[in-house]
Amino acid sequence: MEDICIYDGDAVISRIVFGHGLSGVAGALADCTGSGRTLPVYMIYDAHVEEFVSEVESVVSGIGGLEFCGKYSVVATEEGKTMDTVLDMAGWLLENGADRNAMVLAVGGGITTDMAGFAASIYKRGVRFAYVPTTLLSQVDAAIGGKTGVNYDSYKNMIGVIRQPEFTYICPEVLETLPLRDFLSGAAELVKTFLIEDRGFYRRSVTFLAGLHGAADKTAFLKGNRHELLELVRAAASVKAGIVTRDQFETGERRKLNLGHTFAHAIEKNARMAGDDITHGEAVSMGMVMAAELSVKIGLARNGFSEALYTDFRSAGLPVDCPYPVSELAEAMSKDKKAENGTIHFVLLSSQGHVEIRDMTADRAASLLA
Ligand code: GLY
Repeated sequence: MEDICIYDGDAVISRIVFGHGLSGVAGALADCTGSGRTLPVYMIYDAHVEEFVSEVESVVSGIGGLEFCGKYSVVATEEGKTMDTVLDMAGWLLENGADRNAMVLAVGGGITTDMAGFAASIYKRGVRFAYVPTTLLSQVDAAIGGKTGVNYDSYKNMIGVIRQPEFTYICPEVLETLPLRDFLSGAAELVKTFLIEDRGFYRRSVTFLAGLHGAADKTAFLKGNRHELLELVRAAASVKAGIVTRDQFETGERRKLNLGHTFAHAIEKNARMAGDDITHGEAVSMGMVMAAELSVKIGLARNGFSEALYTDFRSAGLPVDCPYPVSELAEAMSKDKKAENGTIHFVLLSSQGHVEIRDMTADRAASLLA
């Protein structure tokens, strides 16, 4: 299966490599060797995916031209996604003799890849890094496009850099053991991608998720529909790679990928303060429904559009109802890191597969939705 590439002009700056099983990471790493030098590989992995680590380790250790130099385990939580953790990673690289030729290989979900990518980006002013994402969310979003970083205070991803991984290796099999809630969290980002650019995949993704939602044995459903899942993940990766190629540093088009996220970040902040347990993907799902409602309110989308989206999401098993009044979200929205002078670039929908950015204050959005 052909790689999907992210470009800067004509130059390939990141490859998205697809394969079956973790052993395929061997080929992707082997392509990074060259000039007759051994490639020293330092693995940073999420302690939740310990079961995959020994396989990746033996794959790396078994290939000529690669040297496995050690592994660092991280307990991936939003609370632990801090500068301290990144500095600890950098300290570990230093203690283990990582030089400027080092390759950091991050194995895990988005929290792990965001932090490992950031650590690799600042260690010795930047060493090479690559990702093996093990969650649906990281396969379709977090591990593609080079956003790295950590949370600061109560603000998500406030400190970081955009720097591309050499490759992102994606295999769908790792998703079959993912807890359903985590899978659905990623599914919200999958559906989001096709709401931004449909390519015929929005309906396919909703149908797939409705099948999963209705299946008594979820693992058997995922195993039986492995090919369809791979096609969906690949299509989402391709949409995202195209957007990042056109706007790597988010000065324009890349903002579209924040569909649902202004609301979602406010929902997540409220949830943290209230001690409620809402995942990022769940908040994004609710946030997309709110974005659709706002789109109808300002006359951008036709009447009935948000209800149709609501029905699709419910059938797909995605959460749709925000538990907080919109007035409570307004303050957090106005403090969103993407707000400029109190104005927010809301990503709204004119129809399925077509988004537009409209500037508005949080208060105006809240009053329209009240
Ligand atoms: N997660 C949105 C982006 O990568 O731009």
